[in-house]
Amino acid sequence: MENFVFHNETKLIFGKGTIEKIGEEIKVAGLKKVLMLCGSGSIKKNGVYDLATESLKKGQISWVEVWGIKPNPVLSKVHEAVEIARKEKVEAILGIGGGSVIDSAKAVAAGVVYAGDIWDAFVGKYKVEKALPVFAILTISATGTEMNGNAVITNEKTQEKLAVSSKALYPKVSIIDPSVQASLPKEQTVYGAVDAIAHILEYYFDGSDALAQDELSEALIRTIMVCTEKLLNDPNDYEARANFAWSATLALNGLTAAGRRGGDWACHRIEHSLSAIYDIAHGAGLAIVFPAWMKHVWRQKPQQFIRFAKKVFSITSDGETAALDGIEAFKSWLRRMGAPVSLRDVNIPSSDLDKIVENVFRSGRTLGQLKKLDRSDVKKILELAF
Ligand code: NZQ
Ligand code: ZN
Repeated sequence: MENFVFHNETKLIFGKGTIEKIGEEIKVAGLKKVLMLCGSGSIKKNGVYDLATESLKKGQISWVEVWGIKPNPVLSKVHEAVEIARKEKVEAILGIGGGSVIDSAKAVAAGVVYAGDIWDAFVGKYKVEKALPVFAILTISATGTEMNGNAVITNEKTQEKLAVSSKALYPKVSIIDPSVQASLPKEQTVYGAVDAIAHILEYYFDGSDALAQDELSEALIRTIMVCTEKLLNDPNDYEARANFAWSATLALNGLTAAGRRGGDWACHRIEHSLSAIYDIAHGAGLAIVFPAWMKHVWRQKPQQFIRFAKKVFSITSDGETAALDGIEAFKSWLRRMGAPVSLRDVNIPSSDLDKIVENVFRSGRTLGQLKKLDRSDVKKILELAF
């Protein structure tokens, strides 16, 4: 096991009827005016907006609303919200929605206190050390953004989708009421599951040895899989929503990362290029890339892939056959849940593969931990994903 520091800055409030607490939480933090960021309107339909605004009123918090944060959130919208936040002199940012809204809230929170263009932070020209406080009401469990310091934004002008990570960007308080996720379309529940599983696997397959983390990771993956299957049968199954939601938070809040080597993250980098270019859902892109990456790299540490096959999919074959059977079982499960599992499934033509490879390496950063990947590796992975 590697040395580690485990320090999570977020206070998490979890369960039925918890959205009503947001006003009080902002009030006790000594804040009086917030910028509220929202998506395209699901929170108006499922009652979350009313619950949140009633609570703000009770807490005597005033707010300004910015709507229209889209999935795969874009930089121009962050710029727009930064301007409004400055003009309105808000003291904090409240994101109500999924990863796209909350990531945008973090980018805005950092952008307000930075004199330059906040995109500088995403390309490594500026280190985020301060930001306005961020509060979050999560409406879809997937990204773990509710309890981490990451934000992922797409610069639509350059077609780059990049991440920033900072201690200053952990939400001060996040609220998860799993019952409000009953209104999610089925495919969004599945994409959330794929994303959360992918976060666990990025650490699980980074080449490190950490038994406690292996066991925790496998338990979380199995829980997410079982709950996803239940939710596809009954979107209102509260116990399944709650266990899914908590597992997805734990998947990227530092717990499964502790004692590891920082994670591999090649699949995420490749996926971010897919969603930057084609605007597909992050979870959909991961379902396409992950099994292909596994096929390409499993020989780097066969015993971990065999372990995955046995502990997650109860594969009974042995040796290298078990490793490959595990990858196939994972892909079959994704397909069974309704996720796309090939580039063809989302209409990406084979003539585009080189363009995707170039996008992946545009940032100039090295790629992969279990196996360092060069352009030809990524091309091979995309061919396997075709
Ligand atoms: O626009 P609204 O109305 O909010 O609708 C959303 C959106 O259409 C809808 N939705 C959310 N909650 C709902 C609901 N519909 C009905 N009922 C509800 N309760 O779901 C759609 C997808 O929302 P989005 O926020 O895009 O989903 P997700 O949470 O999966 O976020 C994905 C984004 O997060 C990034 C991804 O790359 C992507 O841009 N990531 C962020 C990470 C992080 N901050 O740590 C890590 C991840 O690896 C990931 O990269
Ligand atoms: Zn992800």
